[in-house]
Amino acid sequence: MDIRAFYIKTMGCQMNEYDSDYLAQSLINYGLFPVNCPEDADLVLINTCTVRAKAEQKAFSTIGRMSVQKMKKPDLILGVVGCMAQQKNVGLIKRFPLIDLVIGPREIGRIREVLRGINGGRQKIVKTSLKTEPPPPISCRGYFGRSVSGYISIMQGCNNFCSYCIVPFVRGREVSRPPEEILTEAKNLISQGVKEITLLGQNVNSYLWEKGERWSFTSLLRQVSGLAGLLRLRFTTSHPKDLSDDMIQCFTDLDNLCAHIHLPFQAGSNSVLKRMKRGYTREHYLSLIEKLRTVSSDIAITSDVMVGFPGESEKDFMDTLDLIEKIQFDSLFSFKYSDRKGTFAEQMDGKIEESEKASRLSILQKLQKGISLRKNMALEGKKMEVLVEGKSKRGGQLTGRTISNKVVNFDCNNNYIGNLINLQIKHGFLNSLKGIIPV
Ligand code: SAH
Ligand code: SF4
Ligand code: F3S
Repeated sequence: MDIRAFYIKTMGCQMNEYDSDYLAQSLINYGLFPVNCPEDADLVLINTCTVRAKAEQKAFSTIGRMSVQKMKKPDLILGVVGCMAQQKNVGLIKRFPLIDLVIGPREIGRIREVLRGINGGRQKIVKTSLKTEPPPPISCRGYFGRSVSGYISIMQGCNNFCSYCIVPFVRGREVSRPPEEILTEAKNLISQGVKEITLLGQNVNSYLWEKGERWSFTSLLRQVSGLAGLLRLRFTTSHPKDLSDDMIQCFTDLDNLCAHIHLPFQAGSNSVLKRMKRGYTREHYLSLIEKLRTVSSDIAITSDVMVGFPGESEKDFMDTLDLIEKIQFDSLFSFKYSDRKGTFAEQMDGKIEESEKASRLSILQKLQKGISLRKNMALEGKKMEVLVEGKSKRGGQLTGRTISNKVVNFDCNNNYIGNLINLQIKHGFLNSLKGIIPV
């Protein structure tokens, strides 16, 4: 069968979004074209996440739904890619026999080779080596042109092995991409109309290129920042144990570096942090926040936190609440700890009951809701610069983000997409702001 139209369903984090874009680009360069719904596709790829039990369940139900699709259209090629593909491997095909392809995140560079070998779906293919180098860059001709904001993966994998985390097992060891490739990719994005670039890695601060000239994360950041036409630069994720003074200084030195940092803290108790193998203390984390706020007084700080890590006592949980109260994050992603197969924490004693985790999570979220809402309401009446990204989900409005990464919706008849505009904040809600064009 001729494979012509493809559809990619992306789950999980920004890494997966980048990988899906990469896959889409490779397929377009190979002569295929993207479609907006799986019913119209000859090839469906599901890019999966397995970071928590819930992510895994979601991936299973999506694979189930797409399998039904394949029953209706037996020629359809059904592929599962990404972190859960890596983890479950051939086991996925045993559970869902209609799957044709299983490709791990380190093998996406070989998608075209895989399609050549598939022989109309008669051959099942599993590719899950973690040894492969990052895939070669592809010229971003056209595909990314529609968006104002683009991602560039600067490294793959992770060496940290935080005790709860599956990522190092499914994404392999840390490998940095060559700086010239990253800069070329950035220039390509800018020439396609991208105005904001986010550099991605599990732990961007440990970016290191040592072949020939030595490049650290900050040298890379400074170079990308200097590219003509780039209005905004962001990065994620920073690890507190590796956040250097040199990095913090970049918030002063680089005009287009947005005053926002996502700095996951995970827990406020030193004994929990130790068992998580995070490599920092709450005092160190607090000192980083102080330094960041000294360098950039209105920097937005967001974070990840989890409750119910094995052995987390009531007192440990109180330490987490206390840290949230002290720091006043702009927003927080909060999760219930869930066991991941093969991790160190899976073997630990002192597992917390699901109901207790749920109750701690709801207390924590209530606390943070109050803080987020207060912070957003404090912006009412202020003027803020917004990069307009597109039409808002609720019709009639445009949407964009402030430097601090807050979503602003506003009424407007003109097409300001891709432009910076100064808005006055009319209302602060929990997860967004409402702006107006000042008269
Ligand atoms: N590299 C990033 C995080 C990647 S995973 C970092 O180091 O911060 C994204 C978030 O998922 C983590 O910050 C953590 O809060 C959460 N997470 C990871 N494993 C988890 C698990 N087993 N249970 C619950 N939450 C988890
Ligand atoms: Fe997971 Fe820790 Fe690596 Fe982040 S730094 S991906 S939490 S192991
Ligand atoms: Fe991201 Fe999920 Fe993989 S968070 S790195 S897609 S396990």
